[in-house]
Amino acid sequence: VSVDVDRAMIDKAGYPHFMLKEINEQGSVLRRALFGRTASDLIDLSGEWGITPEKAKTFKRMDLVACGTSFYAATVAQRVLEKYLKVDIRVDIASEYRYRPLRAGGDTIAVFVSQSGETLDTLEALRHVKELGAYTVAATNAPNSSIAREVDDVIRLNAGIEIGVAATKTFTAQMAVLILAGLYLAKLRGELPGADEKRLAEAMKDLPYKVEQTLLLKDVVRSLARKFGAARDFLFLGRGVSYPVAMEGALKLKEISYVHAEAYAAGEMKHGPIALLDEELPVVVVAPADELLEKTLSNVEETRARKAPVIIVTTENVPDVNDVSGTIKVPMTEAELTPFLTVLPLQIFAYESALLRGCDIDQPRNLAKSVTVE
Ligand code: G6P
Repeated sequence: VSVDVDRAMIDKAGYPHFMLKEINEQGSVLRRALFGRTASDLIDLSGEWGITPEKAKTFKRMDLVACGTSFYAATVAQRVLEKYLKVDIRVDIASEYRYRPLRAGGDTIAVFVSQSGETLDTLEALRHVKELGAYTVAATNAPNSSIAREVDDVIRLNAGIEIGVAATKTFTAQMAVLILAGLYLAKLRGELPGADEKRLAEAMKDLPYKVEQTLLLKDVVRSLARKFGAARDFLFLGRGVSYPVAMEGALKLKEISYVHAEAYAAGEMKHGPIALLDEELPVVVVAPADELLEKTLSNVEETRARKAPVIIVTTENVPDVNDVSGTIKVPMTEAELTPFLTVLPLQIFAYESALLRGCDIDQPRNLAKSVTVE
């Protein structure tokens, strides 16, 4: 109900759709998510999160739990944080987690990622682990929501209201907040080397500008969406931090353009999807410069050898790959932060594909912004 009221009061600021407005807000969303949390190249959440170093050191396990786009943001965070935080970090879908026999307890920090703070499965997952004695945190855009009220601590996304049913700017805010909170926890535990803290804080502060640079690639992305305007299926591939980006790209396309899109960890292609490859199946490969790049490029070779058209989303420092249908190069950043940039062309690709197909972009059929039923 409140979303309808807000919807009437918030205008599109000249954009044809809320989704496009929200995609374009991501530079400032990121500035707000970083504000007060990355001062002088330090990562510091002490102003809002009262957790003590003693408490931080009690954890052996971290569970990140969410649904939909929030789950993919949580998965990016897991891939980034497992390098720094010396606890066992798991990520799970709330509708699974809530029914699982958990081996969690007082040594567990459970983080619930929810834009709305009202998703029923996420709320029930929270209640499930709380009963076992876990310490619970919400990363949410709605500090007065049901989930926010029931957790021990809240970390705010500060993304501003999001109207488009398909989440875009809150994905960016969630990745930022989860990475910052996890790094802060690692710092309290004495596990984050000062050089890494500085390197990541500096790189994160450069991201808003790089996000804005990446959004300027919209015309290239639009022409690719047009080129594949008749495709009925897409495959998205990625490894490491780019695997959840591929999943989010496929989800966006399904949600708003009703085109079938499936995401796979690139290394898993040989176990099934490779059988689908032919001229009719465009493959979007998320392959930024990182330690897995060569592996992912070998999947590109396998794909091209089977005549499937390839679109590569990569970083500016990666040499061109021959015989691909399209290359989108985003600015360079630290390897673990590339999802903030590589996801943007995928959001725009979904938007442009939906526009071409005449879909109701802000209110796709059968979907709700917040799912408060099981
Ligand atoms: C619905 C929305 C998605 C969202 C998911 C989780 O499916 O359409 O955009 O990602 O719920 O919502 P939450 O508010 O918990 O992040």
